[in-house]
Amino acid sequence: MTDLKFKNFLSKDGIAHVDAPQWFKKRIDIRKAFPLPYRETPDTLAAIVSDAITKVDNLKHQKGGPSLLGDGPFDPRGPRYQEAQKAQLAPHMQGLAETIDQSVALFKGLSNWNHPLVMPNVIPPANIASMTAAMLTEVFSPNIIEGEYSWNVELAELESTAMLARLLGWDPGIAGGLYTFGGSGCYFYGLKYALTRVLGKESRLTGIRTDGKVLVSQQGHYCKMNSTDWTGLGMNNIINIETDPDANCMDIECLEEVMEELNKAGTPIISIICTMGSTDAFAVDPVKKVRELIEKYPNPPGFGRPFLYCDAVIGWAWLCFKSYDFEENPMQFRPQVLDAIKTNMEAIKQMEYADAVGCDFHKVGWSPYNCSLFMVKDIGEYQRLMSRPGSDYLQERTSYNPGNYTLEVSRSGAYAMAGWATLKYFGHEGFQAVLGGILEVQQELRERIQQEADMVCVNPDDNGFVTLFRIYPSDVNASVQYAKELSWSDCQDELMKHNRLQEKVADTLWDWYKEGRVIDGCHLTYTSLSTGFRPTEYNRDESDPDAMIYGLKSFPMNVFIDADSMDTLVKVVKAARDEVIKEGWL
Ligand SMILES: Cc1ncc(COP(=O)(O)O)c(C=O)c1O
Repeated sequence: MTDLKFKNFLSKDGIAHVDAPQWFKKRIDIRKAFPLPYRETPDTLAAIVSDAITKVDNLKHQKGGPSLLGDGPFDPRGPRYQEAQKAQLAPHMQGLAETIDQSVALFKGLSNWNHPLVMPNVIPPANIASMTAAMLTEVFSPNIIEGEYSWNVELAELESTAMLARLLGWDPGIAGGLYTFGGSGCYFYGLKYALTRVLGKESRLTGIRTDGKVLVSQQGHYCKMNSTDWTGLGMNNIINIETDPDANCMDIECLEEVMEELNKAGTPIISIICTMGSTDAFAVDPVKKVRELIEKYPNPPGFGRPFLYCDAVIGWAWLCFKSYDFEENPMQFRPQVLDAIKTNMEAIKQMEYADAVGCDFHKVGWSPYNCSLFMVKDIGEYQRLMSRPGSDYLQERTSYNPGNYTLEVSRSGAYAMAGWATLKYFGHEGFQAVLGGILEVQQELRERIQQEADMVCVNPDDNGFVTLFRIYPSDVNASVQYAKELSWSDCQDELMKHNRLQEKVADTLWDWYKEGRVIDGCHLTYTSLSTGFRPTEYNRDESDPDAMIYGLKSFPMNVFIDADSMDTLVKVVKAARDEVIKEGWL
């Protein structure tokens, strides 16, 4: 034990006194792991972060190079994840530079989502304002559980919800919203709110004891299962409503039949979920008609009104075209694109009839993960139903305390800052340019495919970002063959054979991509595959899992994709098809 007094542990020149206890020396030592509490010039943290970003950015290649970060080849089966079991906590600290280098190395082999050859499933690169705003929260960790711990940063959430409410056509003084952990998080919030409204607030004490139903289209996202499962309602309480096979949206007559039957049986409907842009087909359900049916078939006495939730994670941003002058067309979109934009906007704006809406910024908000905004039309009702008694260790120092009614306790300010910064930065015009530009590029691909006799676009009428297409052997007329496979049950063997071809081509493209293959001077495009884009005409109820249409998929979410990207896509798909056939897979 030392006789030295605590206040003398630190010598005047800021280093630990030789006689200070070990714990104090270590404590002084570990201060270097944190930013200084005072302003310093130059700013050490800023320099370290800037250096780290430069290092991770340097994993990108020169123009014309591949879209994978770092130097390949990479094993298409993935890194050796099982090796991770060997990890153990080291006895001592390692250097900061080494730790940062190790962090940067983890990005090797990942796709650069901003690259012109990258167009897999809905994965948008984040815009600079959103990344920077989110990163700022890493420095001072605002916790948007309540105003006390986040102060002005709460405004990012509140202002975002006001902007979204206005876009939705809701009163921003009555509506509200919460940033949460994803489209599935929004869905989960929506279902919990619905259960509480329909089964009453007591259900939060007693648990869910009633088999109320959730009505959602067949095309609705699979997170319908996550939500019914995790809320305790049970996946068996989902009723899948048939979809119109051409438009892929909810068949309103089927919906009415189901609602009438439930009404007669005295079974409550917890929620009807409208998908406002399905993942592949961009099918948009008719919200206004659903609202009319809810008015026509109220729940039996003793239960609250059925809840109308819109899963708009892929579709919400089309609201920004409400302000577009379609007559003047100031952005000069081509006629087909202009029509598609208008159709999307008209369909999406029906969300004004919803009770709640889920909006992903990490999809059509070009923000980093996770970044989603759950919007409710009447925040007062939501708060009345969902509030809990506060906690002994938290006081309501300010007037905004969302922690009283959120699922999460701590909430990072990162998603609110990222979403808010995007809204501020883009404005109507920014969203219009990005969204409309994607449709222009998508149109380019569809026209390109039309020129190829052995390729066919299978979703020419969809107005979303996705182009789904099939490739056939070079001596097959793709359009004729596909028409038969789509409609004729006696062609099911051929359908299945060619489905296998799509799958093998997709697998080959993936392998080549990760291995760093170059085809005729071109690096590989990164695309996806859909194994259930739509059923055949003779399998409308989807009872036969083999009578489904597979399609190769281009989801061109980034603004660097251009006509050349689409030329490369066609070229590499054909090369992969030839390889698959050469290897005797067909
Ligand atoms: C229509 C739809 N809803 C919900 C989700 C789930 O969203 P998240 O992945 O953000 O949880 C997705 C994801 O692609 C989706 O496409």
